Amino acid sequence: MIIILLGAPGAGKGTQSARLVAERGLTQLSTGDMLRDALARGTELGKQAKAIMDAGKLVADDIILAMIRERLTASTGGNGVILDGFPRTIAQAEGLDKMLEEMGLRIDHVIEIGVDENVLADRIMTRAKESDETRDDDSVEVLQKRLKVYHESTAPIIPYYQNRGKLSVVDGMQSIDAVASAIDAILKTTEERS
Ligand code: AP5
Ligand code: MG
Repeated sequence: MIIILLGAPGAGKGTQSARLVAERGLTQLSTGDMLRDALARGTELGKQAKAIMDAGKLVADDIILAMIRERLTASTGGNGVILDGFPRTIAQAEGLDKMLEEMGLRIDHVIEIGVDENVLADRIMTRAKESDETRDDDSVEVLQKRLKVYHESTAPIIPYYQNRGKLSVVDGMQSIDAVASAIDAILKTTEERS
């Protein structure tokens, strides 16, 4: 099973991915986490990515696609994969389709976690306070830039998947548990089919 979780910064992609990993043994592939890991390891990619992430911009599509290809190839044998924060551009969505076709795989669900943007600053600042991991992009200023990039570059992939009959939308303004139930209900439709 391959699931894509889509949503604005702070919508709850990472939160829901962690739960799906714990409850269903899925493998989470978060391009944001991969970049932060590269930075923590002090790699050249990590250093280059830091400046881009701190500015709220997107890392180049070819770098991201190469990263995903490597990790996807290593993860296909398991219970399934959640793509968290990827794809983020039409070019990435097209690159993913090509990659999956070569691997003989397909996307089962694209789930958009919809939220009112006025709650995102609070969520991000709460996360910054509560989490052990410090994210240099977790400020209200960088959030505004990430949101602008989300509208310009990432939102166009919503109709891309809608046109392919893949898209489901869940209300991300509900409690974490209610969002989780809504996602489970969507995943159940595949389980009933197969
Ligand atoms: P990335 O790490 O993907 O960050 P993001 O998309 O900005 O999203 P976040 O991780 O901030 O939010 P989230 O949706 O995971 O929310 P969370 O569950 O933590 O990307 C970072 C950067 O890396 C990008 O800006 C870019 O530079 C680069 N990058 C990454 N991928 C890339 C790609 N594919 N191409 C190019 N560049 C890329 O929740 C947030 C908080 O809200 C938490 O405290 C949580 O507890 C709380 N919360 C969650 N759900 C709820 C709820 N229902 N009710 C109340 N609180 C909730
Ligand atoms: Mg996240």
